[in-house]
Amino acid sequence: MISYYSRENFPYLFASLSIAYFVITMNTMIAYYSHSGHTEKVVKDLASKTGARLERIEPAHEPQKPGKALSSLLTVQADIKECKTDLSDVDFLIVATPVWADGPSPYVEKYLSMVTNCRGKPFSAVIETKVGGGERTLSRIRKALEKKGMKYVSSAFTFEKDVEAGRYDAVIDRFAATIKKVV
Ligand SMILES: Cc1cc2nc3c(=O)[nH]c(=O)nc-3n(C[C@H](O)[C@H](O)[C@H](O)COP(=O)(O)O)c2cc1C
Repeated sequence: MISYYSRENFPYLFASLSIAYFVITMNTMIAYYSHSGHTEKVVKDLASKTGARLERIEPAHEPQKPGKALSSLLTVQADIKECKTDLSDVDFLIVATPVWADGPSPYVEKYLSMVTNCRGKPFSAVIETKVGGGERTLSRIRKALEKKGMKYVSSAFTFEKDVEAGRYDAVIDRFAATIKKVV
């Protein structure tokens, strides 16, 4: 008779229990904005690797298409739709944003300003960019959340062309490992 608890099955059982332990014990949330899908693709993979839940940040009013009026995207009212900003039951926050004019998207800035019940909790950031601006974007995210008493853990930078080619697995695996170390 084949038993699930047999000696041969032990490594598989151990691996599933470790993943289950991570998912059950830790409430990790990824709050993200994505205009054209790159950031969303990355965070969906990250969520499937870590068991984190996804919270999409959405503009209250849809911005115009990039190319037509890029500048209006940057100056548009950054109001966002209602979403989860109370982190009472969140143990670890991951913020993900595309770079817009060398900083986080204004919708993400708005979200960061609305986060509550987060003092002492850890956070990380995923920053998606076309050519650069990631460091300044990260420092803006850190400034906003550290001011609220949150503790910075790690960051990952992904590039538009790599995301389109599906070449970002290693970056996300390394990033996921930094989160698992904390929880
Ligand atoms: C309004 C706007 C401003 C942008 N500014 C920058 C920038 O300063 N530096 C950069 O590398 N990419 C910039 N980008 C490109 C985006 O960061 C890049 O296309 C990213 O992959 C978009 O992610 P998304 O598909 O999740 O929206 C900008 C894009 C938009 C729409």
